[in-house]
Amino acid sequence: MRNTILVTGGTGFIGSHTTVELQEAGYDVVIVDNLSNSDASVIDGIEKITGIRPAFEKVDCCDFEALENVFRKHEGIKGIIHFAASKAVGESVQKPLMYYRNNLNSLINLLELMPRYGVDGIIFSSSCTVYGQPSKENLPVTELAPIQKAESPYGNTKQVNEEIIQDFVHSGAPIKSIILRYFNPIGSHPSSHIGELPNGVPANLIPYLTQTAIGIRECLTVFGDDYSTPDGSCIRDFIYVVDLAKAHVAAMARILEGKSEEAVEVFNVGTGHGYSVLELINSFEKATGVELNYKIGPRREGDIEAIWGNVDKANKVLGWKADTPLEQILLSAWKWQKHLKETGIQ
Ligand code: WQD
Repeated sequence: MRNTILVTGGTGFIGSHTTVELQEAGYDVVIVDNLSNSDASVIDGIEKITGIRPAFEKVDCCDFEALENVFRKHEGIKGIIHFAASKAVGESVQKPLMYYRNNLNSLINLLELMPRYGVDGIIFSSSCTVYGQPSKENLPVTELAPIQKAESPYGNTKQVNEEIIQDFVHSGAPIKSIILRYFNPIGSHPSSHIGELPNGVPANLIPYLTQTAIGIRECLTVFGDDYSTPDGSCIRDFIYVVDLAKAHVAAMARILEGKSEEAVEVFNVGTGHGYSVLELINSFEKATGVELNYKIGPRREGDIEAIWGNVDKANKVLGWKADTPLEQILLSAWKWQKHLKETGIQ
């Protein structure tokens, strides 16, 4: 009997890549997505890769009744991977109430429904933003690093959601959870059938970079080169989205196979290496042979200077490792951007 996994936000960037890896690992997948920040055509892309069309329910996780109907309709859901959330740092500063309502209510609804429908576990999509700016001696950052005051309502919703899960499990809820703290997911599936599809002007580095390289954007602005880093630009832990997706499969298996040692476990999901923005640009130019038009601009408010993860725990406990070379990841992003142009999507 195949296990069925509910993937909320499954037509999004990380959700779609995770759906592919879940299907390839033998799970049946039900995607729940309200399509507020993605497109149903992503499901076609998933099917092209795996040959299996995931079940899809156009539902907002904040709509309790509609969400409960999904559990009624799709019996035997054993696990949830919860991606559905608003995720733009800058937008969250402008619209905090929308972020708190959407990101907190969606998780609360899922948690409330889990015991009613015999769902064993939930994997929560968290973020390294919960660490804020680690001190230099705390880099690479481990899961035991202090949680610092969030720099944005978006980051705060991640912190509060982690606490909601801890408190619900502590109250005796018969569920298990694994919290994955992502660093910076980048790249696209090697098939180019799915990838990052930002709405409007991209806030994140890689989509803006590839849109500049292909001519959609005039020039990439590097937000500051006066940080106390080797080349002055910010440092991040850029992880291949396919490696990240595979971490979710490993985490789900750990729960469903009863291997979780605690009711809530937390893992950093990164590469363990930091690259600066300028290093990333140089890697892109070297990998693709494309000269990028960029300039140095002022710092972006809310950016932290440097963060990368200590990922020993995920490597050892989950038996998972992100090992795709950076240039290969950047090539996948470039291939995807060219695919978007060839197909007229962007
Ligand atoms: C990376 C670096 C920028 C754009 C955020 C969230 C994180 C996750 C990913 C959702 C920074 C620099 C960027 C540009 C630039 N969110 N940059 N020019 O801010 O590290 O992480 O997005 O899943 O939770 O916190 O990612 O890609 O925006 O920025 O110089 O046009 O690239 O200053 O140093 P970030 P990012």
